[in-house]
Amino acid sequence: MKNRILIIALAALTFTAMTSCSSSTESSNLDAVLENIHNRKSVRQFTSEPVSDEHREIMLKAAMAAPTAVNYQPWRFVVVTERAELDAMADVLPYAKMLKQAPLAIVVCGETTWMGGNENPYWDQDCSAATQNILLAAEALGLGAVWTGVYPNAELVNPLSEFLGLPGNVKPFCAIPIGHHDGTTQPKDKWKPENIHYGKW
Ligand SMILES: Cc1cc2nc3c(=O)[nH]c(=O)nc-3n(C[C@H](O)[C@H](O)[C@H](O)COP(=O)(O)O)c2cc1C
Repeated sequence: MKNRILIIALAALTFTAMTSCSSSTESSNLDAVLENIHNRKSVRQFTSEPVSDEHREIMLKAAMAAPTAVNYQPWRFVVVTERAELDAMADVLPYAKMLKQAPLAIVVCGETTWMGGNENPYWDQDCSAATQNILLAAEALGLGAVWTGVYPNAELVNPLSEFLGLPGNVKPFCAIPIGHHDGTTQPKDKWKPENIHYGKW
């Protein structure tokens, strides 16, 4: 009888330990995800330290993990690391002058045609999701990055398409300068409950 009670007590203890362990793992995952989202900020000043190939691939893999309409994955990426090319791209993109400091830029582009040769109405939304994933991965890697808008501004789309030699069915969506930073840029608090409507407006 004593043995049976001991076994039941041990089983209960093991169960409690297992459930509390899995719930603490869940809460630390949640903390890590939310910390990453809330710490992300636009970084526009970089040191000259290069971004490693490994980190570059982590960001590109994160980009390609984003959702896309009908899983079409229309994104294409142009990776620019040559100093002269980054400087020249900054001359084409007046709102992305920080390219002159950044050691890396990922230009998120979209294949605009899809089924039946029609224009994909979702390509820019798909590219937005990929862009945000790159920014979050950069934050998680301790890197700084900033989304600089290109599409749909024809004054940016056309010269950048020419600069990068893009085919006619591929449009540049945005350019993301990325690099190491001094850690002084702080995230903004944008929580505004008044922007939320419940049920109906
Ligand atoms: C569609 C879009 C276009 C943007 N274009 C530029 C840009 O051309 N140059 C720039 O310095 N920042 C650009 N930004 C970054 C915003 O200025 C920045 O996200 C905003 O000020 C909020 O700051 P935070 O990213 O630090 O939260 C852009 C952001 C988005 C989403």
